[in-house]
Amino acid sequence: MKIALLPGDGIGAEIVAQAVKVLRALDGLDIDLQQAPVGGTAYDQTGDPLPAATLELARNADAILFGAVGDWKYDSLPREKRPEQAILGLRRELGLFANLRPALVYPELAGASSLRSEVVAGLDILILRELTGDIYFGQPRGVRRSHSGEREGFDTMVYSESEVRRVAELGFELARKRSRKLCSVDKANVLETSQLWRDVVSEIGKRYPDVALSHMYVDNAAMQLVRNPKQFDVIVTGNMFGDILSDEASMLTGSIGMLPSASLDARGKGLYEPIHGSAPDIAGKDVANPLATILSAAMMLRYTFDRPQAADRIEAAIRHVLKQGYRTPDIYEAEMRKVGTAEMGDAVVAALRGSSR
Ligand code: IPM
Ligand code: MG
Repeated sequence: MKIALLPGDGIGAEIVAQAVKVLRALDGLDIDLQQAPVGGTAYDQTGDPLPAATLELARNADAILFGAVGDWKYDSLPREKRPEQAILGLRRELGLFANLRPALVYPELAGASSLRSEVVAGLDILILRELTGDIYFGQPRGVRRSHSGEREGFDTMVYSESEVRRVAELGFELARKRSRKLCSVDKANVLETSQLWRDVVSEIGKRYPDVALSHMYVDNAAMQLVRNPKQFDVIVTGNMFGDILSDEASMLTGSIGMLPSASLDARGKGLYEPIHGSAPDIAGKDVANPLATILSAAMMLRYTFDRPQAADRIEAAIRHVLKQGYRTPDIYEAEMRKVGTAEMGDAVVAALRGSSR
């Protein structure tokens, strides 16, 4: 298992280190880990947030474990030098078109949500966000002079049929392995791109009669996610809507520090990262929650390496440490055992060692 480690900025190094501990604690895995700088860290070292050597390492690996990138101190750099370009570049260059963002509420943490616990208890939804198309990458884009002489900014929202088809097919396949419900989110009442999206998804739906397909406008979906999130199973949507809805969905769980993600190419190669950011304000303080990154490593075992049992073991170990009361400050409640980043990683390793192999 060739894994590229790209810890990145802020808390990235601390949280990736815990996931590495956990991977190493699983026996019977032949893992080869190689690390490279990415994001602001890479910019500081090389002048480029995604140096060629880092991209090469990522290209040659089977999977990438990514921490986080970004820091306010880079906000004034020209766009192509900013840390965010590293993750956008990796997605584009590696063809990572399918972004899986599960939002799962652990019973122990149901009280952490800002919604009433009966609205979210037992929640288990999966947002499938298209990741290499849409207004994020559409051309042309820029700032130009309008006829009247003022500046105007413009971007292009565009989806080809084949781009919609491949992510929709994956949505149906994923729904088949879950509760067989797929909700496609678009803005077909206003946007041409969305009308095509809806038509293509509907066409593919004919091949999946066992999956209940529904369509929803994005504004309604944003509302339904807080009104009654348990109506959803799998949501499939475009890059921009998925960016927004997945942040919203993460907060249903109350603990953004708990949510992993996978970004997959057509062959199952993937980049795995927590959905939270680099949190520079708490970097180096040993307080960040490493569980989202550890869960990302579990997704890696499941989706790229086809080792569902190893993934199950990690997920069970995490449930175990939550039951034991271990909490990093972001999910801490009175009476629990407050621990730091490294201690949480150690607790997961101990739970793994204690579980049957
Ligand atoms: C995400 C982030 C990125 C995105 C940023 C950092 C470019 O918000 O992964 O959701 O917009 O896709
Ligand atoms: Mg986002």
